[in-house]
Amino acid sequence: MVRSAGAIVAAVLLSALAGCSDNAGTRGVAGVADKHPGEETYNRFCFSCHAAGVAGAPKFGDVEAWAPRLAKGRELLLKSTREGITPGMPAMGLCTSCTAEDLENVVDYMIVTATAAGEGTP
Ligand code: HEC
Repeated sequence: MVRSAGAIVAAVLLSALAGCSDNAGTRGVAGVADKHPGEETYNRFCFSCHAAGVAGAPKFGDVEAWAPRLAKGRELLLKSTREGITPGMPAMGLCTSCTAEDLENVVDYMIVTATAAGEGTP
């Protein structure tokens, strides 16, 4: 009895690992489940300004700072991310290698963390 319970636990762990094996940047089972597809781009390119709110950038996860931005709607936020906002926000947030999909993911990541306080925040 005891032995088969152990086997079940091992099988569950293995299937969890296998299910996540295509996720780039794996940092362990617990981290993978929470990882948003925009997180890596944010940490590499957007973090430098948005973490501290440099030059009036809406701070990451700051519900109040993002409220008026979110009111514009996702499409407009994507547009201003692609084109930038003079003078503070550079076009594509400096991620010139980002695809349209990368930018959508990272903007969604910022939107999610600024809407659901606590949920999805690192
Ligand atoms: C060099 C600093 C800097 C970097 C790097 C940067 N931002 Fe920004 N961002 C800003 C500033 C400043 C603003 C506020 C601009 C304003 O409203 O005048 C802003 C505003 C925004 C907004 C709100 C746009 C709107 O229409 O209100 C979004 C969305 C955004 N940034 C996304 C990103 C993303 C995604 C990245 C990374 C790929 C990024 N930013 C990188 C400085 C930066």
